Amino acid sequence: MSAGGAPDASAPGSVRITVDLGARSYPVVVAPDAGAALAARVAQLDCSGAVVVTDESVGALHEARATGPLADAGHPDAPVIRVPAGEASKSLDAAGRVLEAMRRAGLDRRGLVVALGGGVVGDLAGFAAAIYLRGVDVIQVPTTLLAQVDSSVGGKTAVNLPAGKNLVGAFHQPRGVFVSTEVLASLPAGEFTSAFGEIVKYGLISETGLFEGLERDPAPALARDPRALTQVIATCLRAKAAVVAADEREGGARAILNVGHTVGHALEALTGYVRYRHGDAVAIGNVYEARLSAVLGLASDDLAGRVEALERRLGLPVDPDPFDPDAALVAMRGDKKAVGGRLRFALPCAVGRSEIVDDVSPETVRRVLAAG
Ligand SMILES: NC(=O)c1ccc[n+]([C@@H]2O[C@H](COP(=O)([O-])OP(=O)(O)OC[C@H]3O[C@@H](n4cnc5c(N)ncnc54)[C@H](O)[C@@H]3O)[C@@H](O)[C@H]2O)c1
Ligand SMILES: [Zn+2]
Repeated sequence: MSAGGAPDASAPGSVRITVDLGARSYPVVVAPDAGAALAARVAQLDCSGAVVVTDESVGALHEARATGPLADAGHPDAPVIRVPAGEASKSLDAAGRVLEAMRRAGLDRRGLVVALGGGVVGDLAGFAAAIYLRGVDVIQVPTTLLAQVDSSVGGKTAVNLPAGKNLVGAFHQPRGVFVSTEVLASLPAGEFTSAFGEIVKYGLISETGLFEGLERDPAPALARDPRALTQVIATCLRAKAAVVAADEREGGARAILNVGHTVGHALEALTGYVRYRHGDAVAIGNVYEARLSAVLGLASDDLAGRVEALERRLGLPVDPDPFDPDAALVAMRGDKKAVGGRLRFALPCAVGRSEIVDDVSPETVRRVLAAG
C-alpha cells in the first residue's frame, strides 16, 4: 500500500498522489488549475472518443475545464451531456438518458467519460461508465469541495431508488482524478462549508496536522485561497487513497472512512435527506461519535469538545434539531453498512486516530443520543 504525495515538479503548486491498485492504479492531481495534467492524462489513455457529463449549473460555469483539456488532447468536439443539477439526477431514469446520449455520441469500448461536477455527477457518470458496454473509462473532475475531498476518489458509483439512497451501483475506479481548486470560487457558501464535516473526519481518522492546522488558523481555507485548499484537499485525498488501496471494496479497513457517518446517516435518513447537507450531518456525527467514544472509554472526555469547538469556528452545525433517539437507532440498524442489524461504528479515539468498533451496545448509543 502506498499513496505518495510528492509535489509535482512540472507544475508549481500542484500535488500528485497515486491510488495504488496494481494494474488499475490511477493518478490524482490537486492544483489551482489541473487542466494541463488532465489533458496529458487523456492523451496518455489514447481513447477513441470522449464525452463530458455535467449538470446544468456546473456546465454553464465551468464546461471549459473539461472541453478545453479534451481539445488539447485531440478531442475538440467532445459532446457535453447535461443533466439537471441536484440529487434527483441520481436516478435510473437519468442514468438511462446519459447512456442513450453516450450511444448517440458513438462512444465505443475505448471511449472515455469525463465527469465534471459534484458528487451527484460523479456518482451518476461513474455508474453510467461502469455499465455502458460493460464498462468504459471515466475520469473524475470534481467541482464541489465535498467531491474534491472525498467522493471523487475510491470508485464507488451509484444512483438512488425511491426506496433509498445509493441502492444501485458498482465499484468502478476512475482512470484519474483532476482537482482544480479555482473552481471552488463559484460554489455557494453552504455547499462549501458543509464539506468541512468530511475534512474534520479525515483529521480524526489519521490527519493530525490537518486538524491542528485548521485549529491554528482556518482563515486561508475558509477564504478559499486556492493554494491553502490544494493542501487541505491533497491531505484528505492522500488519506483516502491509502485506505482505498488497502481495502478497495470495503471488506474491512475501508469502514474507517465512516467516522461521523453512522450518526450522520441516521440523521439524514430520519429527516428524509432534505434537512441536512451530507457534510453538515457528518459534522454533527463527528461530535456525537466522539462523545460515544468517551463513554466507551476509547477517547478522553475533552475530544468531543475539541471537535465541537473547531467545527463551530468552521461554520459547521454541531447541534441537530430535536430527534427521537429510538428512531435513530432503527435507522442505524437499517443502514446498508450495518451487519446483521448489529451496531458497528468507526469511532474517533483521538485527533488523528480512529478505530472500528463492533457490537456497540444500543443502550449506550441511545443514552449518548438522548443526552445531546
Ligand atoms: N461515491 C462516493 O464515495 C460518495 C461519497 C460522498 C457523497 N457521495 C454523493 O455525492 C452527492 C453529493 O455531492 P455534492 O455535495 O457534491 O452535491 P452536488 O453534486 O449536488 O452539487 C451541489 C450543488 O453545487 C453545484 N455546483 C457544483 N460545483 C459547483 C461550482 N464549482 N460552482 C457553483 N456551483 C457548483 C451543483 O450544480 C449542485 O447544485 C450525494 O449524492 C452523495 O451520495 C458519493
Ligand atoms: Zn461522507
